[in-house]
Amino acid sequence: MEEYELVKELEATFDENLQILLTTNGGLEKVVEEELTERLETIDLQPQQIKTRPLGYDGHVLIELKSGLTTIWPILKQLRSIHHIIFLMDSFSLPQADHLVHIPSRLKQLALPFMKAGRTFRITANRTGNQRYGSMDVQRAAGQLIDERFPCAVDLEQHDINIRVDVYKNQCLIGLQLTNTSLANRYNRSYRPRISLKPHIAYGMVHEANLPNESLKILDPFCGSGSILMEAGHIYPDWDLYGSDLYQNAIEGAYNNLKRENLEGRVELRQADVLELHHYFNADFFDAIITNPPYGIKLSRNKDYALFYKNLLKETAIVLKPGGKLVMLAMKWSQLKNLVVNKTQFTIRKLSRLETGDLHPRLFVLEKIKEV
Ligand SMILES: C[S@@+](CC[C@H](N)C(=O)[O-])C[C@H]1O[C@@H](n2cnc3c(N)ncnc32)[C@H](O)[C@@H]1O
Repeated sequence: MEEYELVKELEATFDENLQILLTTNGGLEKVVEEELTERLETIDLQPQQIKTRPLGYDGHVLIELKSGLTTIWPILKQLRSIHHIIFLMDSFSLPQADHLVHIPSRLKQLALPFMKAGRTFRITANRTGNQRYGSMDVQRAAGQLIDERFPCAVDLEQHDINIRVDVYKNQCLIGLQLTNTSLANRYNRSYRPRISLKPHIAYGMVHEANLPNESLKILDPFCGSGSILMEAGHIYPDWDLYGSDLYQNAIEGAYNNLKRENLEGRVELRQADVLELHHYFNADFFDAIITNPPYGIKLSRNKDYALFYKNLLKETAIVLKPGGKLVMLAMKWSQLKNLVVNKTQFTIRKLSRLETGDLHPRLFVLEKIKEV
């Protein structure tokens, strides 16, 4: 079913005080709020009530709509920092036990007028916490209840209706997911190694650099498949983009991905070892470096990350202009933080924790000190 058809139907049925949930990765909630606020300002839409992490939920942002859902829908669909848009129907604390009885009983009390006869549906459940059951159990319990109440069939792939049941520790949210696929799946990359950064996280990094759309020079020296360059290119048409990577196949792959996005003409790519960056680029050249170095989880357990970060800071400090920004993700973040605090030419402007699956890297926004 067309997303917009459902949106129109919702607006006609629930005319007042719609609550819309946006999902993202934990740590990016503020980025979502800021992006949404900026977008609403550009079309002069009445400010909406926005709450980050409602009920303590990481990775969620709640909007209490003051204008119609169809009016704000095109803006929501263009957000680069989110996964999904959900119409929130119920949120509640779970009892000590019997969650799989309690959740269907709450679902039973909801009118669900969009479940017209014959519609196909699915339940999508996410679960975070130490419960003894899994998300499949939630899906099964909720799905059974819908099946009993309405003459409709389950279809996991081609459904008209996707009811979302998220359990977060002792809280539960029930909603109607309005997006068919995650808005973060926006690139059709021909080169997509496992370590590719998700586009909405790349967006968050570019956003956190907090730079204007002027003819700035921006580098990603671990460009891989080019996610950060693609986001930067789409958001900031006036930036000059540079990418480098140790491996030629990454350079070729990034070029092909950027070409698919019609960005290849705005990017200069070079095969280069980051630890010799000053051989490849002039000193004081870049306004910002936005990058995600290898995390080193499985590939290089024995790698001396303190030394790696030290050399990385040394090289990036050479090619960055004074006052230039270095935005990077780091898994061994305390080592990086110690280096910056004690020794380098950088100062920390922002440091935040991200949730990317089971990994929790830190996002650093560093600034090259103007006078040393
Ligand atoms: C975590 S990945 C970056 C992923 C990238 N942001 C993307 O979305 O595809 C790290 C990249 O660093 C590159 N790399 C590893 N060591 C390097 C070095 N010494 N100099 C430059 N690039 C290096 C790898 O080839 C890999 O593409």
